[in-house]
Amino acid sequence: MLSAKSLFIAISTVVLTVSKANAFTGRATWDSLGTTPCPVQCTPLTDFRVALPVDLFPNGEHCCEKVQVTYQGTSLDVTFTDLFLAGQGSFNISLSNQAFAELAPLELDQISPVTWNFV
Ligand SMILES: *[C@@H]1O[C@H](CO)[C@@H](O)[C@H](O)[C@H]1NC(C)=O
Repeated sequence: MLSAKSLFIAISTVVLTVSKANAFTGRATWDSLGTTPCPVQCTPLTDFRVALPVDLFPNGEHCCEKVQVTYQGTSLDVTFTDLFLAGQGSFNISLSNQAFAELAPLELDQISPVTWNFV
């Protein structure tokens, strides 16, 4: 079993590696299931939002920053407004329906592979 200390070190390492230089690959959904708002409210309010895996940002680090999401050659910038609880342990993301619709028809429900990184 992991001690609290080694768990802390493991999480810190993950957080440190989340930088603008890294791009992550996962699946995007838009149902907003298993998401919770960031600890801070991001202004201005926008319809183009993304929820990122909570274990990468356990204290809401990087909340409200812009994230570029790319699928099949189409990119768009969204704001990191929510934490994706259900995405823990992955690089999967949950987009607002408006953002998802820019990348693919909503009927698809999920798209993969999607790459994302901080702008
Ligand atoms: C991430 O998405 C993949 C499909 O691309 C899925 O198999 C996997 O279960 C997802 N992981 C989580 C934590 O939701």
